[in-house]
Amino acid sequence: MVKVGIVALGKYLPPKKMTNFDLEKIVDTSDEWIMARTGIKERRISALEEKTSDIAVKAALDALRNSSLKAEDIEAIFVATVTPDSNFPSVACLVQKAIGAKKAFAYDISAACSGFLYAMTTAKQFIATGMVKNALVIAADRFTTIIDWKDRNTCVLFGDGGGACVLAPVKEGGILSDYLISDGECASLMGVVPDKVRTPFDPSVDAAKLPYVVMNGQELFKKAVPGMAEAVDIAAEKAGIPLDQIKCVVPHQANDRIIASVAKRAGIDKEKFFINIDKYGNISAASVVVALCEAVETGRIKKGDRVGLVVFGAGLVAAANIVEWSY
Ligand code: UT7
Repeated sequence: MVKVGIVALGKYLPPKKMTNFDLEKIVDTSDEWIMARTGIKERRISALEEKTSDIAVKAALDALRNSSLKAEDIEAIFVATVTPDSNFPSVACLVQKAIGAKKAFAYDISAACSGFLYAMTTAKQFIATGMVKNALVIAADRFTTIIDWKDRNTCVLFGDGGGACVLAPVKEGGILSDYLISDGECASLMGVVPDKVRTPFDPSVDAAKLPYVVMNGQELFKKAVPGMAEAVDIAAEKAGIPLDQIKCVVPHQANDRIIASVAKRAGIDKEKFFINIDKYGNISAASVVVALCEAVETGRIKKGDRVGLVVFGAGLVAAANIVEWSY
């Protein structure tokens, strides 16, 4: 098996910011509540005409600029998203066209907030087995397009954005372990309603009502903490790395209190966790890769460091990887 690593990262966040104070004007909430309960200060809102594929393309081009590869060299493209431009064609194929990656095969992966690690782990297998030489893994979501802006339980939490990485063979380090786990028994804890699958004919469905996110926040919180703590623990064991040798943990950014509880439960100092939820809120699949990109940009992660990546999302889906940083 070929050793596979992340060789470049990129990101794109729409420039328009929405602060907690802006939200105070549209729902019964406060900056104080949002900060205390989630750690979020502001989030990014995509422009009306900006599609998920546009966000994915910008993140992908940023990652390619940071790599030694050109779009024509890319052999596989995976896009993790739950807010594609439309059911099909896939966002991955739209990215392929936009960047001119003519040699690649391309498809989307749906694993909600865990999407990036599901896509990265999938891409890794293709390279490890020699089927392709490299892959572009992108996560992009526009959760603000599926939010009920009258529901304070959800509308304060999410934002838009994208991140990407280039995966390729590495001589040393790379992705040391993978752990993916799903629990469809808890699928009802978060999703989009009304369920479009019930059409073409169901008079009880109000066709004019747009689908929006419903979430049982408290139950998800209770599942996320042990789920993420266990995932990072198992991934570390699979990598043969004691948890105290992990220099930095980059978690899914859903709630600062979830991250604190995961740190406590896993027995890892919270100072080791990279957190940027204050700036972007929860950007679904893109959260972990945008945070990873910023952790590398700011020097929190350096060559040789052992890094834990850990995510959790609707499905339920959780994942963790241990990576030895290669550049
Ligand atoms: O990333 C994918 C998966 N999603 C998650 O992981 C989310 C996990 N869950 C959470 O992060 C938290 O459960 C939330 C941030 C969603 C909610 O925090 P909480 O501490 O669990 O609050 P709660 O739902 O227990 O609500 C406490 C109170 C309620 O009022 P009462 O009934 O005590 O009077 C809510 O109505 O806070 C109220 N509340 C708000 N107040 C002001 C709920 N949302 C808001 C709000 N502003 N935006």
